[in-house]
Amino acid sequence: MARELITLLSSREVDKMRRAGHLAGQLLHHLSTFVKPGVSTLELNDEAERWTQAHGAKSAPLGYGGDKDRPAFPRSICTSVNEVVCHGIPNAKEILKEGDIMNIDVTLIVDGYHGDTSKMFFVGEPAPVARKLVEVTNECRRLGIAAVKPNARVGDIGAVIQEYAEAQGFSVVQDFVGHGISNVFHTAPQIPHYGDRGKGLRLRPGMVFTIEPMINVGTWEVEIMADEWTALTLDRKLSAQAEHTIAVVEGGVEILTPYPGDDA
Ligand code: MF3
Ligand code: CO
Ligand code: CO
Repeated sequence: MARELITLLSSREVDKMRRAGHLAGQLLHHLSTFVKPGVSTLELNDEAERWTQAHGAKSAPLGYGGDKDRPAFPRSICTSVNEVVCHGIPNAKEILKEGDIMNIDVTLIVDGYHGDTSKMFFVGEPAPVARKLVEVTNECRRLGIAAVKPNARVGDIGAVIQEYAEAQGFSVVQDFVGHGISNVFHTAPQIPHYGDRGKGLRLRPGMVFTIEPMINVGTWEVEIMADEWTALTLDRKLSAQAEHTIAVVEGGVEILTPYPGDDA
C-alpha cells in the first residue's frame, strides 16, 4: 500500500482546530432545543445557518464536494433520520415525528480550520431497539476515542468499535470512514470503524482526525439515493452515528468538539 503523507499540526494549528471544534459543539447543543415532532429538517438547517453566520463562522457542507459525478451538497448540515446512515439532505417536506431518531452532523470553518461533529437526537420517546442502537453507537465512539494515544495504531480504533458493536448484535458500516481534517475538510488518514488491532498507521502527537462510527441494526450494507448523497441501509433498518474531531497529544487524546452533556 502506498504511504500517504500525514500532516502533523503545530500547536498553533491545533489551537485553531479547538476554536472551530468548540463552536461546532456549541451549535449541536444549540440545535437540541429545536428537535421535536412537527419540525422539518430544513427548519433545523436554517437555524444552524443563521446561528453559524451570527457567530462569524462558515458552514463547510454548503456547496461541498461537487464534481462531474454528483452535485455539490446543497445545505449547511446533514440530517440523517432513522434508516438514513449519513449525508441526509435537510428538506422542508421531511417532518420529524414521535419516535424518530436522527443524527445531526455539523462542520464549521473558523479562521480557515474545520470542526466536524455529530450526535443522535430522539424525537419524543424512541422504541427500545432505537434507544439501544443510539447508546451502543455513543459507546462505540467513546471506545474508539479511548484507543487513541501516541504509538497506538489506526487498527486499534476500528477493532474496539467493531468488537463492541458486533457483540451487541449490530453491524458496522464500511463505506464511510473517519478522516484527517485541518484547513482541509477531508484528508489522509482514513480511519475505518472496523479492522485489526496492531495494524495500520502508527499514531503520533499532532495528528488530527475524526472518529465517526455508523452502526446498523441489520446489515452493514448501504445504498446511495438518486440525489447522489443520501446513504441509507440496504434493508431499511435503523442506523445511528456519532462523531468527534480529536487530536493525538503527548498524554493521549484531546476531544476538539466537546458539547455539554456529552459523556465521550
Ligand atoms: N460532516 C460529514 C463528515 O463527517 C461530511 C459531510 S459532507 C457533506 O465527514 F457534503 F455531505 F456535507
Ligand atoms: Co461530520
Ligand atoms: Co467527518
